[in-house]
Amino acid sequence: LNYHVPRTRRDILEILLKGLRRLEYRGYDSAGVGIDGGNSKDWESNAKTIHLIKQRGKVKALDEEIHKQQDLDLDIEVDVHLGIAHTRWATHGVPSPVNSHPQRSDKNNEFIVIHNGIITNYKDLKKFLESKGYEFESETDTETIAKLVKYMYDNRESDDINFATLVERVIQQLEGAFALVFKSVHYPGEAIGTRRGSPLLMGVRSDHKLSTDHIPVLYRCSGKEKKSCSSLPRTDQDTCLFPLDEKAVEYYFASDASAVIEHTNRVIFLEDDDVAAVMEGRLSIHRIKRRVGDYPARAIQTLQMELQQIMKGNYSSFMQKEIFEQPESVVNTMRGRINFDNNTVTLGGLKDHIKEIQRCRRLILIACGTSYHAGVATRQVLEELTELPVMVELASDFLDRNTPVFRDDVCFFISQSGETADSLLALRYCKERGALTVGVTNTVGSSISRETDCGVHINAGPEIGVASTKAYTSQFVALIMFALLMCDDRISMQPRRREIIQGLRVLPDLIKEVLSLDDEIQKLATELYQQKSVLIMGRGYHYATCLEGALKIKEITYMHSEGILAGELKHGPLALVDKLMPVIMIIMRDHTYTKCQNALQQVVARQGRPILICDKDDHETIKNSSRAIKVPHCVDCLQGILSVIPLQLLSFHLAVLRGYDVDCPRNLAKSVTVE
Ligand code: G6P
Repeated sequence: LNYHVPRTRRDILEILLKGLRRLEYRGYDSAGVGIDGGNSKDWESNAKTIHLIKQRGKVKALDEEIHKQQDLDLDIEVDVHLGIAHTRWATHGVPSPVNSHPQRSDKNNEFIVIHNGIITNYKDLKKFLESKGYEFESETDTETIAKLVKYMYDNRESDDINFATLVERVIQQLEGAFALVFKSVHYPGEAIGTRRGSPLLMGVRSDHKLSTDHIPVLYRCSGKEKKSCSSLPRTDQDTCLFPLDEKAVEYYFASDASAVIEHTNRVIFLEDDDVAAVMEGRLSIHRIKRRVGDYPARAIQTLQMELQQIMKGNYSSFMQKEIFEQPESVVNTMRGRINFDNNTVTLGGLKDHIKEIQRCRRLILIACGTSYHAGVATRQVLEELTELPVMVELASDFLDRNTPVFRDDVCFFISQSGETADSLLALRYCKERGALTVGVTNTVGSSISRETDCGVHINAGPEIGVASTKAYTSQFVALIMFALLMCDDRISMQPRRREIIQGLRVLPDLIKEVLSLDDEIQKLATELYQQKSVLIMGRGYHYATCLEGALKIKEITYMHSEGILAGELKHGPLALVDKLMPVIMIIMRDHTYTKCQNALQQVVARQGRPILICDKDDHETIKNSSRAIKVPHCVDCLQGILSVIPLQLLSFHLAVLRGYDVDCPRNLAKSVTVE
């Protein structure tokens, strides 16, 4: 939003598009922009209409679409102009112009909104709004927000209600995660941004000194006063930010600093439930009530970072960033789906098919690469909780074998991208044979999510690094949730279900604890990086970790690595063990513990010097190792999430030490769309 900074519409669109390009790494299936319409020199009259342009595909497609608009004068210069823009990574509804953001309140675009996040109670809100006569046009959760703000406006108690108050009322109704920016024809030149759970910051650019470097937070009401206060205080000189000459300021809202850094390095990071309002060139921040421990002001910080750095945060590569995102990405997979208080699981995408799935004769999990390992990792708990035979298949081999598939089979297709050609062909093969097909993907609108009968989106957020990390742990969690759902009415299973659900509850904290071992793992990498080969051994729940760890090492370090089932050790791999061969062994306190101890003894007896990944308080095992990575204990079937993370970190550090490009390993692609 520029305030008393003359700019052409072309400039404004260019700023928005550039910002989107910077955010494209977060998702890029469609994009859109909403700006003041009208071609007058008077900005206020322009702001009484909103022009929306939306397009499927990358930001480039939106750019081309903008230049096709006949009725938009790009050279018109105005003093004040507000535009909002968005690049989408679909969570609800396939990528299409109508599902792109901004979403609108009605055909006249009275209110528009852009959203990053997921609204988990959107179905209830939609039902309510439909009952009040609001008509929906998209399949998105976001559209309910646009309609809800109009509902609040249509039902306002007085005409001078301000925009921020409306938005406050809206967010009180929302559940889930969001960062939102609103624009309205009823409030020309005003922008409102708010967040909960998803990041949102503001950039401020002014050639003049600003009146303050802290913006006090305005609390609408505290405790007992609650009932008596009905609208937000007006912004005034003491409570808001503005440039000293009251002119020439530009405000930017963005999900991350990369979108604004080329315009300003002065930013304000908003906190959950802050409502930031820009009105007449002034910024004020409002909250309904004060949180315990909340500092009652937001500082304007000066960022010293380079653009590239910001996109990856403090990380040197996307892969490293994604590894460290796992405490949040697993939460996003579970968000709105698990009720930890009454131990229930809901998966909206399977709701209509779950009875049919419960009656099936076997489950077949089909995937490639890391996604295949997610199937191997959860097979045992699926067998246990569903009491069905479970096959786990590599898509290419499954097709090569012309595997028999029947109408009463249920076939799962696990795929981060949802586009892997082998998995897609296997899906079509199973469909032809009448099986029920279920997608487990990270990409809404992808071929696999469209062509399957039903499915679960893992909601891990876009994964950029070619070597998959956070998608694996989220697939793992999604499949566990499915297993829990399958036995939710089985009385005998309840204690086990509760144990697993409570394990999922603490999982994010345990992942953080494992990530804190990073320095130790980096040290280990310095000892290993010149080796030619690494063996990784384990069994039971951790066999998948061995396969996945070895795949990570192969993919990005180009070292030879093999995941070995410890039960097979004496049938061949033991011949490889000597005092020089690096051997990593995963030994956890579960039902395979004693057998793993035997394998450890066999390796030690051949002068091997195993590096252990084990329970942090298993002193007995630690004694027998040359080095141990000690991870926290968790319920057995989730422990694989904690045992794989040290190997993700190890492969990352090995690749860095060997001088390779971690995000783009040679010869590999993120999404393999050819057979
Ligand atoms: C490629 C990627 C792997 C990925 C596999 C399956 O090989 O390099 O990281 O695990 O494809 O991809 P999907 O998108 O189907 O999970």
